[in-house]
Amino acid sequence: MSGTLSTLEVATTWDVERIRADFPVLEQTVNGKPLIYLDNSASSQVPQVVIDRGSVYIEQEHSNIHRGVHYLSQKATTAYEGAREKVKQFINARESRECIFVRGATEGINLVMHGYGRKFIGAGDEIIISAMEHHSNIVPWQQVCARTGAVLRVAPMDDRGELVMEEFERLLTPRTKMVAVAHASNALGTVNPVDRIVRMAHNVGAKVLLDGSQAVQHLRTDVRALDADFYVFTGHKIYGPTGIGILYGKEALLDAMPPFLGGGDMIRTVTFEGSTWNDLPYKFEAGTPHIAGAIGLGRAIEYFQGVGFDAVQAHEASLLEKATAALSAIDGVRLIGTAREKVAVVSFIIDGVHPHDVGTIVDREGVAIRTGHHCAQPVMDRLGIPATARASFAVYNTLEEIDVLAAAVARARKLLG
Ligand SMILES: Cc1ncc(COP(=O)(O)O)c(C=O)c1O
Repeated sequence: MSGTLSTLEVATTWDVERIRADFPVLEQTVNGKPLIYLDNSASSQVPQVVIDRGSVYIEQEHSNIHRGVHYLSQKATTAYEGAREKVKQFINARESRECIFVRGATEGINLVMHGYGRKFIGAGDEIIISAMEHHSNIVPWQQVCARTGAVLRVAPMDDRGELVMEEFERLLTPRTKMVAVAHASNALGTVNPVDRIVRMAHNVGAKVLLDGSQAVQHLRTDVRALDADFYVFTGHKIYGPTGIGILYGKEALLDAMPPFLGGGDMIRTVTFEGSTWNDLPYKFEAGTPHIAGAIGLGRAIEYFQGVGFDAVQAHEASLLEKATAALSAIDGVRLIGTAREKVAVVSFIIDGVHPHDVGTIVDREGVAIRTGHHCAQPVMDRLGIPATARASFAVYNTLEEIDVLAAAVARARKLLG
C-alpha cells in the first residue's frame, strides 16, 4: 500500500531483478515470450507503489480539492499539494507555486505559448527552436508566429544529431524573444548543452523554455542551476500515470502571464462585469484537475528518487553502451543519432527494410520497440529517412534483454534485408 516501501526502496545495492519485481506489467509473456519492453521514451511502465497510491486515492480519498471543508476533501487536497511539493524538490524550484500541474509536456508548452507568447511576443520578434524538436515544441510556436507575425528560426543539427552551436549563436539577436529546445531528443537521444543555451539566450534578453520530457527520467535536473525560465515534463515517461505533467515557470513570469483556461478554481472573484484571477499556481489550473494523476506523479517521483540517480545513470549508461555496440555490429544496421552525449535511446535503420517491418518481427519475440518518425518529422527530413526503429531503456531493463533485441534485429535483417 502507499506507505509501504517497495522492494527497491529497501535495496541498498543496485539489483535489477528487485527493480523488475516492482513492475507487474513486466511479468507477462507476449507471443509466448517474456515481454521485453524497450519503448520507454514513449511511455515507461508504472511500479506497483504508484498503482497502489492511485487506488488509495480512489478507494479512500476520492473527493474534489481546494473547495471542501470536509475530511475527504482536505485529505485529497493535502495529497495533491504534497505531490506538488515533491515536484518542487525534485526539480529544485524555488517555490512550489512555480510548479503547475498540466496534462503533459504538450499542454505545458501550449500554456507558455498562449500565456507568454501571445502577450510578450510580437511582429518581427523571433523564436528559436532546434532541428530535433518533438512536434509538441514546434507546432505551438508556429501557431504563435502565425498569430503575432513573429518569425520562427531553427537551429540546425549535424549528421550525428548534435546541435550546431555556432549556428545557434548566429541566430541569437536582440530580436530573439524565446528559445525553446529539448533538454534531450526523443528521436535521437541527444542531450543538448542546455546550460550553455540558457546563458547564451539570456545574454540577448531572450527567455528559455526547456522540454525535459526525455531528460528528467535520466538526468539530474535543477531548474534553478540551469536558470531555465520554463521547464516542462510529462508524468508517463517517469514511471507515473498518463494525463499529468508539469510546467515549471519562474514566478515573476508566471505572474505576468494571463491565464490559459478559464473556469473554476483559477479565479479570485467573478461577476458578470468581469473576473479576477487566483494566485499561482491555481491561476493556471482551471477546473477539477487530474487529482489521481498528480498524486501518482508525486509517488512516481518518490519511487524514482529511491532508486538513486547515480545508480540509474550507471545502469542506463551500460545499457546504452551495450545496445550501441550490439546493434551496430549487425550487418546492414545503421545507427541514427550518434551524439557524444546521449540518454539511453538507440535509433536505427536496416538497409532496405522499413522500420515498421522490423518492429513487427521483433514483436514476435516479445520485444517492444517503437517505429516511425517519433513525432519528429523534421528530424527524419533532415537525415533523409522516412522513419527509424527505436529502442529506449529504463531502470528495469537488463543487459540480457539487449541480446534478445540484437538477435531479433539480426533475424529481421536476414528475413527482409
Ligand atoms: C521530447 C518530447 N517532448 C514532448 C513530448 C510530448 O509529451 P506528452 O505527449 O506527454 O505531452 C514528448 C513525448 O513523446 C517528447 O518525447
